[in-house]
Amino acid sequence: MIIRLGEGTAAGGDTLGRLPDGRVVFCEGGLPGETVRIEVVQERRDYARARVLAIEERSPERTIPPCPHAEAGCGGCQWQHVALDAQLRRKAEVVAESWRRLGRMEPPPGPLPRRVADGSYRTTLRLAVDGDGRPAYRHRRSEGTLAVDSCLVAHPLLADLMAGVRLRPPRSHPRPSDRGGRHHVRDRHGAEVGLRVGLDGGERLVLPSGGAVVVEAPVDAVVAGPKADAHLHEAAGGRRWRVSGRSFFQSGPQAADLLAETVATAAGHLDPTETIVDLYAGVGLLGGVVAGRSGCGLVAVESSPDAAGDAVANLADLDAEVCVMPVGRWSPRRRPDVVIADPARSGLGRPGVAAVVGAGARRVVLVSCDPASSARDAALFRDAGYDAVSLAVIDLFPHTFHVEVVTVYERP
Ligand SMILES: C[S@@+](CC[C@H](N)C(=O)[O-])C[C@H]1O[C@@H](n2cnc3c(N)ncnc32)[C@H](O)[C@@H]1O
Repeated sequence: MIIRLGEGTAAGGDTLGRLPDGRVVFCEGGLPGETVRIEVVQERRDYARARVLAIEERSPERTIPPCPHAEAGCGGCQWQHVALDAQLRRKAEVVAESWRRLGRMEPPPGPLPRRVADGSYRTTLRLAVDGDGRPAYRHRRSEGTLAVDSCLVAHPLLADLMAGVRLRPPRSHPRPSDRGGRHHVRDRHGAEVGLRVGLDGGERLVLPSGGAVVVEAPVDAVVAGPKADAHLHEAAGGRRWRVSGRSFFQSGPQAADLLAETVATAAGHLDPTETIVDLYAGVGLLGGVVAGRSGCGLVAVESSPDAAGDAVANLADLDAEVCVMPVGRWSPRRRPDVVIADPARSGLGRPGVAAVVGAGARRVVLVSCDPASSARDAALFRDAGYDAVSLAVIDLFPHTFHVEVVTVYERP
């Protein structure tokens, strides 16, 4: 079937169009304004999903995917067929459209969208494991996996680790080693592995999960079970960060730098008599950069003991307190001047916004990694009496549909 696609891009990266019967179709691999031959892959009563088989009339935004594995169906990057500048423009449009549709409001103005370099930016990957024990991306259009011998977005140290790791079910007795060569991780046989490198410290970590496996890895790599005390180190925002194997960190140090710079600008001027709160603080990145520069006091709230432990180490030179607890259980001892919040993809939601609003800060800097949750949280802040005064779109994952939104709210 041949259709002409509309102008809209869905939050999941597909382009929107209409089938001849009037239903909306989410079209993978298409671009706004293109005429495409499609194959419908999923039918629902009021919408359908399709993939592009051929382009009849191409968009000027279309480009040749720079990575050969994109054509083969690698699920790591969904937007390699979109020119880089157009990716940024599309991401900003998806954010604005989400605010209009879900938040029923116009997004506030803000700086021009920015992105990290489009290659070698990732220092962390979570991958499936294929039948031969190789770390592998999930296939975009099937249940299968795709092991790759190169990766456009992975840092070379990480790509090399990916090529050198094998995970197999144990055949013999475990060997109690956790460095280099062959290792045994005491669990069930699992199908996923985290691979991480620290560019500042040069560390490489292999983090199998979900099952007993024998891991073959390069000799310098540390293979870490769930309780292992393995760290890497990154430099970002003018500081050095200790990151435990299971602690969250951004897609790489460039992303951490760009996000921390954007948040520091959004937080505005602070002096040493003032206090900020960093909710969902991870290893302390955002609050640490802002407090490190301004000399203000910092309260960091983080529920993961590993990440909170890293934050204690990372913020030791600052006037900082780390609270190891869920945000829902936290309440401030004194009113902060600025709250920074960087929740997971689902956003703050009603309880999170209530916790932030209850703190009574004059300014809130909200980092959202999903346009829809950004829009829903915007509506909740509006209802709580906060004005959205600026919005920055940043791209920490070029060649994918992922986008970060940094919104500043103020109490009038
Ligand atoms: C998106 S990460 C942000 C981390 C940090 N701001 C950064 O930029 O590196 C979200 C963090 O929130 C933590 N987290 C998730 N749910 C939480 C909760 N209910 N309360 C506190 N922290 C939570 C996670 O462990 C993770 O470290």
